[in-house]
Amino acid sequence: MEIQFFGHSCFTIKVSGKQLLFDPFISGNPLAKEINIDAIEADYILVSHAHGDHIGDLVYLAKKTKALVIGSFELTNWLIKQGHTHVHPMNLGGKKVFEFGSIKMTYAAHSSSFDDGSYGGVAAGYLLETDSINVYYSGDTALTQEMRVLAEMHQIDWALLPIGDNFTMGMEDAAMAASFLNCKQVIGIHYDTFGLIKIDHEKAIAAFAEKQINLKLLKIGEQFTI
Ligand code: NI
Ligand code: MN
Repeated sequence: MEIQFFGHSCFTIKVSGKQLLFDPFISGNPLAKEINIDAIEADYILVSHAHGDHIGDLVYLAKKTKALVIGSFELTNWLIKQGHTHVHPMNLGGKKVFEFGSIKMTYAAHSSSFDDGSYGGVAAGYLLETDSINVYYSGDTALTQEMRVLAEMHQIDWALLPIGDNFTMGMEDAAMAASFLNCKQVIGIHYDTFGLIKIDHEKAIAAFAEKQINLKLLKIGEQFTI
């Protein structure tokens, strides 16, 4: 399975020949100036919630790639109104089998509204289960007890967790989340993009190492095989 990081909470996962793009926000990210968004391909786009730092390039890339967009019912309805009708609505706890594996929409403790303040459905994360490995992307969230329940029911090999604090979990809470998830391999996301979420990388790695968890911080544009 191939992961490529595009900054903030945006990344792709390549599995079974399909490209999954998560939370497209690139052109508005001052740290991702080097990324050419027109070079990003996607068969599926998965969206965690409606905040601008997760959907900034959604309409553009959905239309350009003609990808199937998976998101909350309210978010996919909004996208239809923007002219992209190739959508798959979901809601919390729901699981659906696709050609690359299954997707479960997971609980996130966060808010979800569009830039104009209108309701974007609930914030969520995604658990991707495949024939090879399982990956959990929490979306923007606080540390929750629900993560323990997720680990009781599913093996989680890799997790992508926010570590930037202020709007989401910080490094200590995210390390605890990985413990709850019984997951030893974490890719940190949602940090450094703007002033409020700037972090000390060494401190973050140490916070996870204390719990015998490996925290990987990818460079923007970096590809990584898991
Ligand atoms: Ni958010
Ligand atoms: Mn966010």
